[in-house]
Amino acid sequence: MKNNLSKRVQNIKVSAIRQMSLLAQSVQGALSLGQGIPDMKTPAYIREGVIELLNESDKIGKYSLQPGVPELKRSIANRLFSLGLPADPDKNICITTGAMEALAIVISSIVDEGDEVIVFDPGYPSHVEQILFAEGVPVPVPLDAKQGWKLNRKEFCDAITEKTKAVIVCSPSNPTGTIFEREDLDTIAELARQYGFFVICDQTYEFLSYEEKTIPSMLGYPAIRNNLILCSSFSKEFAMTGWRVGYLYAPEAILAEAMKVHDAFVICAPTISQYAALIALTGKPKPEDVDIKAELAKKREIICSRLDKLRDLFSYVKPQGAYYLLAKYKKTNLNSWKFALKMLKEARVISVPGSAFGSQGEGYIRFSYGASIKTIDEAFDRIEEWNKSL
Ligand SMILES: Cc1ncc(COP(=O)(O)O)c(C=O)c1O
Repeated sequence: MKNNLSKRVQNIKVSAIRQMSLLAQSVQGALSLGQGIPDMKTPAYIREGVIELLNESDKIGKYSLQPGVPELKRSIANRLFSLGLPADPDKNICITTGAMEALAIVISSIVDEGDEVIVFDPGYPSHVEQILFAEGVPVPVPLDAKQGWKLNRKEFCDAITEKTKAVIVCSPSNPTGTIFEREDLDTIAELARQYGFFVICDQTYEFLSYEEKTIPSMLGYPAIRNNLILCSSFSKEFAMTGWRVGYLYAPEAILAEAMKVHDAFVICAPTISQYAALIALTGKPKPEDVDIKAELAKKREIICSRLDKLRDLFSYVKPQGAYYLLAKYKKTNLNSWKFALKMLKEARVISVPGSAFGSQGEGYIRFSYGASIKTIDEAFDRIEEWNKSL
């Protein structure tokens, strides 16, 4: 049977994030600090706005124009402009089925067999699978926990070859929750300009930093504008993971190619979700809508204080953004898959093995703190109890 399958598909695997969720189905009452799903409802102003539109108009239930609903593209262009990046809604923006589709269509548009794409290790596993699916070669650049998971210029320079096609930058990072500093971005921009590779920014958490008002961003480098690609998401910023909507920003020539893949595979992003995204950007939160960022900031403090009480079992770098952290476990030599499975079976808490994020993640597990405060607290009560048996 395997011989009948394409090499491309045999070359990739389902991410451990989703594998752990599937495995956990056999553990009754397991609590999830695994997948990164915010527990809040999509805000009321978005839900109610969509219901109103559904009743009023039939366009919301039909295919949209292939690149997306024009008003939404215009709103996104305005937003990018306010962040210092001029964008033409018709030439630079396509609405996609989440950031995931934006990444997929752009990676498959620029990567040929044997092309190298630099990723950071630890990093988001789907980046690697998408590069492999495009028959490219992911080139991991190790980040070091002892340096707070910061970029090491020498390691980055060493990874560049004549085959380097792109680098994928995800800051704040999934899985570490850390943010690249301005000087790290200066390095990336300088080398991208010098060697002419693309900078693909996965912007999924760009709205979410806890300490700084604005996160250093690749948008502010006019010198690499022809090489800059953004893959953005509405999933986390507006608690809309299930709506599956995001967008791709790319230079005109790249967008035109990516649009061919978009057309061939999805036609258009779900129209109802595009309108939800438009309301998200242009509407006003209702008094009952929680402040997602403030809520996650509270949860960050809770998970960090629970981890601080478990110093004999875990050490970690405090996350600055997103809602993940990598916890280094002590007391055992088990690899991270075995450790995560043991914790799932014995403590009934779901995490993600660190090795899923690259070789630098071995010896760690990833916790997500998008879950409710009650779930985080109960999960850590269980881990504390379990820790006594280790
Ligand atoms: C770094 C990163 N990129 C992309 C995605 C997927 O985003 P979307 O839901 O917009 O497809 C996720 C989801 O967890 C993520 O963590």
